[in-house]
Amino acid sequence: MSDTPELDLSHKENWGSKIGVVLAVAGSAVGLGNFLRFPGQAVNNGGGAFMIPYMITFLVVGIPVAWCEWTMGRLGGRYGQNSAPGIMFALWRRAPAKAVGAMALLIPVVIYMFYVLLEAWCLDYCLEFMRGGFAELYATAKGNAPPDATEAQVIVGATDNHFNTNCGLNAHGALFEGSRMLWLVLVCFLVNFVIIYRGVTRGIESFCKVAMPALLLCAVIILIRVLTLPGITAGLGFMWNPQWETLRDPQVWVAASGQIFFSLSVGFGLILCYSSYLRRDDDVVLTSLSASSTNEFCEVILGGMIVVPAAFLFLGAANAKGTTFGLGFITIPAIMNFMPGGSFFGAMWFGLLFLAAVTSSLSMLQPAIAFLEDGFGLRRRASVALLGLITACGALPIMYFSKDALALDHSDLWCNLLMIVAATSQALIFGWIIGAERGLAEANRGADFQLPKFIAFVIRYVTPTFLLLILAGWSYMNLPDYLDGMNPEKMGSAALRGAYTQAIQTHFAEEGLEQAAIEEKVAELLGSEDEQIDLAGMPEWVRGADDQAAQDREVAVKDANIARSVLIAIIVFLILLYALSDIACRNRIGRVIKQVEDTGGGWEGR
Ligand code: ALA
Repeated sequence: MSDTPELDLSHKENWGSKIGVVLAVAGSAVGLGNFLRFPGQAVNNGGGAFMIPYMITFLVVGIPVAWCEWTMGRLGGRYGQNSAPGIMFALWRRAPAKAVGAMALLIPVVIYMFYVLLEAWCLDYCLEFMRGGFAELYATAKGNAPPDATEAQVIVGATDNHFNTNCGLNAHGALFEGSRMLWLVLVCFLVNFVIIYRGVTRGIESFCKVAMPALLLCAVIILIRVLTLPGITAGLGFMWNPQWETLRDPQVWVAASGQIFFSLSVGFGLILCYSSYLRRDDDVVLTSLSASSTNEFCEVILGGMIVVPAAFLFLGAANAKGTTFGLGFITIPAIMNFMPGGSFFGAMWFGLLFLAAVTSSLSMLQPAIAFLEDGFGLRRRASVALLGLITACGALPIMYFSKDALALDHSDLWCNLLMIVAATSQALIFGWIIGAERGLAEANRGADFQLPKFIAFVIRYVTPTFLLLILAGWSYMNLPDYLDGMNPEKMGSAALRGAYTQAIQTHFAEEGLEQAAIEEKVAELLGSEDEQIDLAGMPEWVRGADDQAAQDREVAVKDANIARSVLIAIIVFLILLYALSDIACRNRIGRVIKQVEDTGGGWEGR
């Protein structure tokens, strides 16, 4: 026993069983990304053809980066480190290691801040299905429907309206006007933090051992229900028939890699943290593969065969090609109206989504808890309370600026970018700083099967090159739009132009002009997109749109400022985390690492 408490590592936890760690890591990976994000991405990006870039990314990036993270995490654990800054610093005593550590702390915490809101949506929908709330909503909508509307239109319209109102997408601040969603978010916070407070083995592992089988069982039951629906083969064909031409579109490749990152939770820093609770000779090779394979089964087999085929069957192609939220919170509830036993299956579906989300969000909290404990010696109670406060401070503005999920979308976007940067850094540190061959030898220690030598080549050259290409592709395709979205002047004038365009179109349509002629008139009166609109030279009737234009402009400027604030907040948070990592590595973390080395511990391969 050491005489200074910080160097006493006897309280450090380990996973209780191999199945426990696989279920915990698979639980971290299997989440809303599998059941909601994947079907939307696949169907909108080439159907079956999407699986080609998807599988290539899985093989070239997903699996190798996961092996790097598992191996580095287990090594960090030998230095008594469970947090990303501590693990990275133990392996590479340089400033960039602390920066990668800070990034791997920030990503999960920021994702948690919006993910917990989605968790609350799932809980809300599950409770509504149990109570029969959707059946009531549909009965009322059908009663008030115009005679010429189809049932699908009425049901989708009612669900759309319910989603936007209930989840606060209609207006900023809507969730703070007596909505019950606020309470459900609080419930989700409590569920997460109570489990985290119980610790890795008694909390996370115990919960995942029950939740993972339960959610898999629910998903299989729902899959059987969907696959036995008459005519479902047409829906499966719609989802999976390959559109090969989409492979020429770089956006499809970027979408596939983004999906792999989000879904496998690689590059986030979660695996680094979870694997640091392994023992020195616990297998990482097969365990990592088992967790990734469970994730892929849930994603491709369960996620890919339920939502879109059923949506196509009941609602047609237009409704089956939705965004993540559209498919998840509008299309699925609507399908349940048509499906026999819909309320039961609806409750089961959203219940499984809720469980999947909780097993993922737990893993987003543990890295920061580990940092507060390892880096600053905080006790569990204090670290849980402090992290609760920090995540609440982030979640509240995301919930407040909820119109069109603006703050949520922008937080997600910057996390996606950071994820690619963090994964690239981890592959580079493993391949070039630790050394791919030495790293591989370490991965093979205690492994249930040995990784072949060519994996070292893949990690050193192929994975980082592929990642850098994706980073470049992502930045080229997304950054300009997102930067524009943060520019109040640009957004304001686009909104102004939109309002006047509408007024001009309406005016000339009423005069009976053809569409092409109307477009010409718009261009003639408003000039090109980069020109200032010359209001003085406009006909008098255009001025009728002045109030609307001013209002739209104001809203657009405000939204651009919100988007900009999200980025600024993330940058400030990252700088702060870097500073804290630096302080911790110079003090407590550094002392523990030194003590471990002085007493003959650590990694003899260093
Ligand atoms: N990997 C988690 C998910 O797919 C974040 O939802």
